[in-house]
Amino acid sequence: MYQRRHEQAKKHNHTMDLRIKSFEDYQEKYQYSVEDPESFWGEIAQNFYWRKPWKKTLEWNFTDPKVTWFKGGKLNITENCLDRHLATRGNQPAIIWESNSPDEPSQTITYKVLHEQVCRFANVLKRNGAKKGDRICIYMPMIPELAIAVLACARIGAIHSVVFGGFSAQSIADRINDAQCNIVVTTDGAFRGNKEIPLKATVDDALIQCPSVERVIVSTRTRTPVFMLKGRDCWWEDEVKLVSADCPAEEMDSEDMLFILYTSGSTGKPKGVVHTVGGYMVYSSYTFANVFQYEEGQTHFCTADIGWITGHSYIVYGPLACGATTLMFEGIPTYPDAGRFWDIVEKHKVNILYTAPTAIRSLMSFGDQFVEGKDLSSLKVLGSVGEPINEEAWNWYNEKIGKGLCPIVDTWWQTETGGILISPIANVTKTKPAYATLPLPGVQPILVDENGVEIEGNGVSGNLCIKFPWPSIIRTTYGDHERCRQTYFSTYKNLYFTGDGCMRDEDGYYRITGRVDDVINVSGHRIGTAEVENAINMHLGVVESAVVGYPHDIKGQGIYAYVICEKHVGDTDLTRKDILATVTRIIGPIAKPDKIQFVSGLPKTRSGKIMRRILRKVAEGDTGNLGDTSTLLDPSVVDEIKAGAL
Ligand code: PRX
Repeated sequence: MYQRRHEQAKKHNHTMDLRIKSFEDYQEKYQYSVEDPESFWGEIAQNFYWRKPWKKTLEWNFTDPKVTWFKGGKLNITENCLDRHLATRGNQPAIIWESNSPDEPSQTITYKVLHEQVCRFANVLKRNGAKKGDRICIYMPMIPELAIAVLACARIGAIHSVVFGGFSAQSIADRINDAQCNIVVTTDGAFRGNKEIPLKATVDDALIQCPSVERVIVSTRTRTPVFMLKGRDCWWEDEVKLVSADCPAEEMDSEDMLFILYTSGSTGKPKGVVHTVGGYMVYSSYTFANVFQYEEGQTHFCTADIGWITGHSYIVYGPLACGATTLMFEGIPTYPDAGRFWDIVEKHKVNILYTAPTAIRSLMSFGDQFVEGKDLSSLKVLGSVGEPINEEAWNWYNEKIGKGLCPIVDTWWQTETGGILISPIANVTKTKPAYATLPLPGVQPILVDENGVEIEGNGVSGNLCIKFPWPSIIRTTYGDHERCRQTYFSTYKNLYFTGDGCMRDEDGYYRITGRVDDVINVSGHRIGTAEVENAINMHLGVVESAVVGYPHDIKGQGIYAYVICEKHVGDTDLTRKDILATVTRIIGPIAKPDKIQFVSGLPKTRSGKIMRRILRKVAEGDTGNLGDTSTLLDPSVVDEIKAGAL
């Protein structure tokens, strides 16, 4: 039976059959997935093309932790994303690319052409010394070459580490060194709204600190003048002419690493989250097909950047494995004006739009005139991701964009989860503003108190954990497995701890309330407070700093920094600007504090611990009730902080 199904999967793309059809169907599948997870996921996984079937569907423990899905299975994810579609949909658009500028023609890349380009660039990587298991850093804007580079790595079994184009040279260097990358793929520059950003120059700055890098492959985008170091740097366009378009896919083990993606946590240093080939492929595709109820021939527009997990899972791998048409947008939502998303929806007849609450709030603030008159009738499903969506934004999205006809799927997940865990299924789950609603099949959430005791029943709140592995759960943090154990699996015994607070209402619906650790979510981007503090503290004249999040109308959370400077630092205005420049240089513009308050002391306990609770309250403007301050070493600093609050 198994072999027969396997043979069928080879010939056909069955991923469309993975879809849940009704709420009863969801309930049945959910039940099945909990009672017999191995059979459940085994059946799903048979819809993909495996060169050799797996021997054991799941082995796991959350103590080490060690999770193995589809053990012994051999495959290459690009054969699932590309090759197997060639016979049935070779001439269908795989990627539609929309430029930063509305005046530049868009591009359509069919599955056939994408396959060819991926193979060609895979050969370029090999020509430049890349081998299976090598780590390759990709630092590029949202152009098709970025998706091609990602898939080319997967084709030859190299592990990609995509670094978001907004990160600084220092951040690139830290990531390259952590993973010991030997190749960097980049572009001369990037267009972003009316700005031109010199990416290659930033890479050059980073590489001063990166002895492991032997080759830099540069694709042309902006024609910004660049320095090309002889013996190290080469042009993408020249290289692809030198290789053939034939590149057999490397055979990978299901548990071989597919990629590393760095994300912020409570400590100063970002972690390299590792995902592996088999489980990630199965889960990203399964959730793509289900949550959005993707139908053959539809166009899916996820507005994220491929530099984040959302782009990995729902621009590249999930959609392509399902044979979908995925739209890649190079620019920003407000260029040339706040109607750009709606112009794109109209132009490309987008059926599924997947974006972040911060973008919705921002566009909402420009007024409805940018939506009026735009033909959005192609839209069928709307998605939200990255942070809690407030009711006002939810309602606007629903009424102005979806015209009350499109279900909104509020998808909760994380870099570490690889795919969506809690979310409505479009047209299947009854939605509720600001609720991520119910766990997808295979996902077993549990709320616990601070001692790890389960909080049962409905109408309760607690810390959100997951008690059973799903196929794309984080496998390790690159080069430091102990860190993975400590961060996610040691807070509560035998549970994966998400770092999020959550409530479960009377209907059993989940609502994510935000991070309970020292992570701030700024415009859907995770930033560690310690990371920002370390950057601020590097500035000459800064003695100490403490960073907290505060509610921000557009960004969800803003960054509020309390900074102690040495006495001689006089011009606070200039120092403020210097600090912003420092953070931009050390991390990138996304981590710049929105507010900087200079203080002479921080509220510390007698043991020297900063009482962040007080700083958070002041930043929130809630100074009336600061709670117990009696354990403070010097309670008078609180009055000064309150008086100077911004
Ligand atoms: O706090 C949660 C929030 O974003 C965090 C994960 O961030 P990151 O790894 O960058 O991945 C973002 C895209 C998947 C979570 O711990 N978050 C994500 N989605 C939601 C959310 N908070 C509330 N509702 C969501 N739908």
